[in-house]
Amino acid sequence: MDKFVIHGGRPLNGSVAISGAKNATLALMPAALLSGGVCRLRNTPLLRDVTTMSALLQSMGVSIDMRDNILTLDTAGVNKYEAPYEHVKKMRASIYVLGPLLGRFGKAKVSMPGGCAWGPRPVNLHIEGMRKLGAEIDLKGGYIVAEAKRLKGAKINFDVSSVGATGNVMMAAVLAQGTTVIENAALEPEITFLAEFLVSMGASIDGIGTTTLEIQGVDALHPTDVDTIPDRIEAGTFLVAAALTGGTVTLTGVIPGHLSAVIRKLEDTGCRLTSTDDMITIIAPRRISPVDVTAAVYPGFPTDMQAQWTALMAVASGASVVTDTIYADRFKHIPELIRLGADIELKENAAVIRGVDHLTGAKVMSTDLRASASLILAGLVAENTTEVLRVYHLDRGYERIESKLRALGADIQRVSGEEF
Ligand code: EPZ
Repeated sequence: MDKFVIHGGRPLNGSVAISGAKNATLALMPAALLSGGVCRLRNTPLLRDVTTMSALLQSMGVSIDMRDNILTLDTAGVNKYEAPYEHVKKMRASIYVLGPLLGRFGKAKVSMPGGCAWGPRPVNLHIEGMRKLGAEIDLKGGYIVAEAKRLKGAKINFDVSSVGATGNVMMAAVLAQGTTVIENAALEPEITFLAEFLVSMGASIDGIGTTTLEIQGVDALHPTDVDTIPDRIEAGTFLVAAALTGGTVTLTGVIPGHLSAVIRKLEDTGCRLTSTDDMITIIAPRRISPVDVTAAVYPGFPTDMQAQWTALMAVASGASVVTDTIYADRFKHIPELIRLGADIELKENAAVIRGVDHLTGAKVMSTDLRASASLILAGLVAENTTEVLRVYHLDRGYERIESKLRALGADIQRVSGEEF
């Protein structure tokens, strides 16, 4: 297992290119199943989660090629309609094959995702949505076993705004008979981009970018090629890295509009930010001011930036509160930040943070993707040496993070092969 060894205290300066979005790619890949031909996803990030999704689709008969961040998927030869536990246990997003398999083949056997590092993440909305579209669903042996001659359009109103359930039901409904209306649909850019991808395959969807999606089912879809949107969470992580280390950094290949909640909060901390169509420059102040955030659905402050913000507030010039309304217990990074000298108290779904003058390096353990990002960030500003263990969590969602950080002046090394 790899670890990162970081010598903190260097301001980050320079420019960094942002990769394609993990959470868009993980939806587009199963969506390609609907085409029955060759789709090309340009700007695909080289991530462990993309490799995991590729292995799952290949096990169904999809042929996949990845070259120069162009992922080519040929779904003409699909002959298996199952997502086994072995794949799904590695990555919850595997459930995204349910909608496309049901929509195109009328059958699917998908393992239930099981537990997650930070608590319950049910898939009841996915199952209810498929049932409303007329699928017969059985839950047995830890599997969702679904069948439908042809799905039928229906009205679906989600109790909770869910990224995954919106995407899955939309992918099922595009080949259903008749019209489906999804109310309280998720607005996340990855879902809007998925809808645009489906339309470029010949789907008929109205209300894209709103909470009401109207989908007129069609008989067949065709392949397409797209440029995947940039990863707003990777971008947000680098903005916080610049703010934390007191540097000046330019991000290229971003969509600033996808980060407006994060940008606004960074301005409140005293950072100066300027942006163009596809670039953001951040200039950090001498000392970060404390700013509360409440993680919420898009366009609110993203829960996937909550841990990184907690690390920033750990060295702010005063107290702040970070609340998460999406995942009440997504705070596994806090005990590790406290090991680095942070002063944080957890109260239900809120962290009360009293900023300290400095953090001190130590060995810390990654528990999940964004928690490990917050430990890297804290290590960049901590005195002495920080060792972040089990960085395989990071490799799931950040492409070449250590070389990108080194190019900005960070002292970070990947050390392989030790057991911890
Ligand atoms: C997506 O997960 C992202 N993953 C997550 O990013 C992100 O944290 C999350 O959306 C919220 O923005 C991918 O896109 C692959 P949800 P998803 O369904 O789809 C409840 C990262 O770090 N819910 O929007 O699983 C659920 O428990 C990852 O990149 C139900 O109750 O999230 C949660 O409280 C981590 N029943 C809320 O809805 C359901 O059937 C939002 O979850 C589904 C969800």
